[in-house]
Amino acid sequence: MTANANGFETATAHHAWDRRWSTTEGRAEWLEPEEDLRLLLPELRARGCRDALDLGCGVGRHALFLAEAGFAVEAIDGSPKGLTFAQAAAAERGLAVPFRAGLMTDLPVPSCAFDFVVAWNVIYHGASDVVERTIGEIFRVLRPGGLYLGTMLTKRNVNFGRGREVGRGTFVIDGDNDKGHPHFYCDAGELAALFAEFEVLSLKQVEHRRPGSWHWHLLAEKVSVA
Ligand SMILES: C[S@@+](CC[C@H](N)C(=O)[O-])C[C@H]1O[C@@H](n2cnc3c(N)ncnc32)[C@H](O)[C@@H]1O
Repeated sequence: MTANANGFETATAHHAWDRRWSTTEGRAEWLEPEEDLRLLLPELRARGCRDALDLGCGVGRHALFLAEAGFAVEAIDGSPKGLTFAQAAAAERGLAVPFRAGLMTDLPVPSCAFDFVVAWNVIYHGASDVVERTIGEIFRVLRPGGLYLGTMLTKRNVNFGRGREVGRGTFVIDGDNDKGHPHFYCDAGELAALFAEFEVLSLKQVEHRRPGSWHWHLLAEKVSVA
């Protein structure tokens, strides 16, 4: 495993995603926004959220959705191919979204810049140090009272415990297209500890497209300090 520029050896998933984003088949399942985000829109509006970050934006489905809904959106990903595709999709729709290259462990944005961060199926790509650092970055870039919507992998997931353990709760399945890079799995207690600085507003386990592909869906708030 090669080390990344910022020294996190297990934060390598964006290279695999870069290969995937270069094909029509690879992108096909990642073009429509998730239901959780659609359903959150009224709450975001009610709270007066304006500035949003799509972290690990892939080919841009959530950034484009939020921009179309009137938010000022920025989007960051480590995959150049994903960013190119997303930028073209934004231009086609007449949307001005800055899609920028960056790593989730070192977000190239100032502190307290966003009212909302979405990171769908992103931040569990790496060992616990990567996940902890990324959650710290999300906390840093959110304004007090800001919301975070994201997913984690649960230990109910069929791939938990499969392959090589490269860190606590972190597995690589060698030769597997999708799980050939590190994935971190956690139970509810571990998740609560990771997000201890946030107030968890909702948490549920949801099976994604593949049978046994269980994920946590988390909505959390960076609580304002009085
Ligand atoms: C499963 S895809 C999800 C894409 C998008 N969030 C969506 O729901 O359509 C994961 C994305 O996270 C990005 N990613 C993975 N590790 C990363 C890292 N360390 N820094 C930045 N982006 C990363 C990948 O390049 C990929 O685009």
